[in-house]
Formats: sequence, structure tokens, C-alpha cells
Amino acid sequence: MAVQILGSINVDRVVSVASLPKAGETVLASSVARLAGGKGANQAVAAARMGSEITMIAAVGADSAGAWMRGELQREGIDLSALQMFADSATGTAYVMVDRHGENQIIVVPGANARLGTGNLPSPAETTRVRLCQLETPIETAAAFFDPGAARGTRRILNAAPAVPEAARLFADVDLLIVNQTELAVYLGLTSRPETVAEACAARALLTRPDQQVIVTLGPGGAVAVRIDGYCHVPAMPTQVVDTTGAGDCFAGSLAALIDQGLTVEQALPIANAAAALCTTTRGAAPAMPTRGAVDAALIAAS
Ligand code: RIB
Repeated sequence: MAVQILGSINVDRVVSVASLPKAGETVLASSVARLAGGKGANQAVAAARMGSEITMIAAVGADSAGAWMRGELQREGIDLSALQMFADSATGTAYVMVDRHGENQIIVVPGANARLGTGNLPSPAETTRVRLCQLETPIETAAAFFDPGAARGTRRILNAAPAVPEAARLFADVDLLIVNQTELAVYLGLTSRPETVAEACAARALLTRPDQQVIVTLGPGGAVAVRIDGYCHVPAMPTQVVDTTGAGDCFAGSLAALIDQGLTVEQALPIANAAAALCTTTRGAAPAMPTRGAVDAALIAAS
């Protein structure tokens, strides 16, 4: 059982504020922390804690931030043998503001992530059951990662976040697409975010093959997996929200691990949904990823 994850590694500088600042406003923070992050790294930690073997294809700078992040990921048992290191780029940094309701605003300085090339991609012989990627690293590299020839026999999952309209060219080469409401609005060219399950089913327009699926995460509305000929919805699990940062990554990483372990999308959906809910109860992104045991316990308690 193994998942190959291509994606970003960031050091998150997390600032806690009562309210997120409006344009031109200055606000005072109650605390600041350095935490492990980056959509790729968060998904890798979520998938590892869900019980799969993880290899990460990623890039960091040859700096102290990169060394710290390598240590954090190795502590989770993540294989970093395909990591690229750049002496003349800094490790990615994300400036994350979190308000008292757990909502966030994030600015990412990509650094080495923007230079992640195709050099260390797994060969077809190294193919695993699942490949997972997001969009904080170059689209060309993602395209090579999902290339049908190179990824034969692999379940290809794209979490198309953050929304990058040019990424739509990748959709034909993936088997499962994961987007949130904001991202779906961008990819469908909508003027407002889909809020209901029926509105989320408009995601069907992104499918190009009958064997594809798209999952739309709806925050408090849960998640819906849409096929050409139907859909499967799970409601959100109620929690005490502390910080929503990384919840989408938790969902994508957990889902990839569960599919790697042989579950169908429909079987994996409620478990990944519960994992994402648990993730919001703890501060930070990568550190907040729950273990499989914690998720199972929460599901039992909720039943
Ligand atoms: O999805 C949350 C992540 O987005 C943060 O960890 C931050 O690093 C940015 O990549």
C-alpha cells in the first residue's frame, strides 16, 4: 500500500487574530507560531496518519526552514528520497491569519516549490496504487506526474487547489478531482459559490470520461461525490472549530490513503469527511491531521 504525493512544502507562520483585517486595516495578533504546512506536506501527513506508506515528490531550499520541514516529514515516516533541494531558493513560506471563528486568510510565497521539476518523478516501474497532487507546484510537473503512459495502473487524484484556471487541462488525465466551493465556482466560471448539493452537482460538467468522479467539499454542508450518472452526499460532522486551515488537505490526503487501502470513493467519503472535521478542532495544518484511530473513535461516538 503506497501513495505518491507531488506537492508543496511550506513553513506556516500562523498569526492568531480576533478578526481578519479588511483592506487598509491594521489588527493586533494574540500569538504567532511556526508550524509545518504546504498543501502537499499536509496531505502527505494526513495520508501517513491514515495508515498508508507515503513518498513525497517535492522541493525545498537548502536552508534551515527546509531542514526543519524535512525533519517534520521524516518523523511521520514519509519517504523523502525524491525531494529536490535548491541552494538558491528559499523553502516555501505561508503567512496564515486565523480568526476567533477558525476562518483563515493565507498568502503563500512559493520559493523552491515553484521550481519543482520533472527530474525526480517516479518511473512507470515505481508506480503505486495512488498518485495525488495539488496546485502549489508547477502545472507542467503535475501534467508529467499524471501522464497516462507514466501513471498506468494508478488512481490519479487531483486536488485542484488553489484554483488555477489553466489547471483545467489536467482534468482529462485524472480519475478523481477534488474541489471546494470557491474552486468549483472558478472552474465552472460561476459568479457565486455553489452552496447546495444540487448546485454542487454542476461539477458534472468537469467530467470528461464516464469512469471519472469529482468530489465537492461544501464546508458545513459536508461533501458530495459526483459521477456522470449519480451522486453520493455525506453531511458534515459537527465539531468545535478552532482552525479550518488544512481541512481540505486532510480530506484529500485521507481519501487518497483510504483508496490506496482498497476502499471505493463512496466507502472512503464518510471517513475522510470525519477526518477533515477533526482537523478543524486543532490549531495548524500538518500538526492537526488526525490518526486513523482518532477518526474511527469519532465516527463511533457520532453513530
Ligand atoms: O491548505 C492549507 C495550506 O495552504 C497551508 O498549510 C499553507 O502552507 C498553504 O499552502
